[in-house]
Amino acid sequence: MKVVVTGGAGFIGSHIVDGLLAAGHRVVVLDDLSSGSRDSLPAGVETHVVDIVDGQAVAAVFEKERPDAVCHQAAQMSVSRSVREPLFDAQVNCIGLINVLDAAVKTGCKRVVFASSGGVLYGDVTTPAPETTPANPVSPYGITKWVGERYLEFYAREHGLAAVALRYSNVYGPRQNPHGEAGVVAIFCKKLLAGEPATINGDGRYVRDYVYGPDVARANVFALTADLPQIRPGTLTSLNIGTGIGTDVNQLEAMIRQRVADLLAAKNQNSTLPEPLHGPARAGDLRSNLVDASLAADVLGWKPSDSLDEGLQKTAEWFAERAAAERA
Ligand SMILES: NC(=O)c1ccc[n+]([C@@H]2O[C@H](COP(=O)([O-])OP(=O)(O)OC[C@H]3O[C@@H](n4cnc5c(N)ncnc54)[C@H](O)[C@@H]3O)[C@@H](O)[C@H]2O)c1
Repeated sequence: MKVVVTGGAGFIGSHIVDGLLAAGHRVVVLDDLSSGSRDSLPAGVETHVVDIVDGQAVAAVFEKERPDAVCHQAAQMSVSRSVREPLFDAQVNCIGLINVLDAAVKTGCKRVVFASSGGVLYGDVTTPAPETTPANPVSPYGITKWVGERYLEFYAREHGLAAVALRYSNVYGPRQNPHGEAGVVAIFCKKLLAGEPATINGDGRYVRDYVYGPDVARANVFALTADLPQIRPGTLTSLNIGTGIGTDVNQLEAMIRQRVADLLAAKNQNSTLPEPLHGPARAGDLRSNLVDASLAADVLGWKPSDSLDEGLQKTAEWFAERAAAERA
């Protein structure tokens, strides 16, 4: 099968590219490299550097490639930028999505998988939220993810696409960008590896459902390529992708600090790491957000394979290797 992965040079997209290639599929990446990097991609992957807001350029890529399926990961994904610049957010996340869907249906593409978000759709929930939880997006980013699913449903019905929206919880892992405001695991790994304290917002009692990036990629590969009775032409299937296990930021920081200390000790480096600092609380941060992924287990046969302990270990190792390479 030939798959176009939009945002394929990003954190999650690049793990999806790896997963598709490992399963023997052909992959083409469409990415404007605004936050992604070619370094995240294996050598030789065809990459079109295109902004999804540019409809003609997107159409030209699909005309040339004529994929069987498209995996749409490209997005403006900063909640705070969406609050500051709702127009930009809508251009990338709505107009960009429509450009991709238009090009896909015009060139005979049969299946679309869309990166949605459980975190922004369900709001504050203290028990794992199933897909039937009423959507309550409060930020423009959350609104565009919700609207994105509605467009997907329309294109599925109108053009016979088999569409899947995967509603991720908080995704972490190797290759996540540590420079932004999101990606707390990446930010803490980078700080602690530099011997600096992590800064926790507010009291840190913000509970999230952390799911490992390569596990999320595996869900995408199943949704794109498997012959599954519930994924049918003309329908949208929305599935949560997470662990249902809550961890607060204080616990998370302590776990990462322990992993990083162990890595430094193994290299005979100073492994006494500073206690975290506490900064101001971020306005609008949800207290608790968890998703129930039992439907993904039924429909895709997907379950997360890496525990948070295992995933954090691999992530800390990756950031340590990267820090060593940057120093060399
Ligand atoms: N990381 C999470 O915890 C999380 C949670 C829920 C949903 N998501 C969604 O998953 C998807 C991937 O997120 P990620 O964490 O890998 O982020 P990322 O920033 O690493 O990846 C996004 C990719 O899209 C590309 N891109 C951005 N704007 C583009 C444009 N206009 N045209 C073409 N390419 C563009 C970027 O260069 C990047 O490679 C996004 O749709 C995001 O909204 C992520």
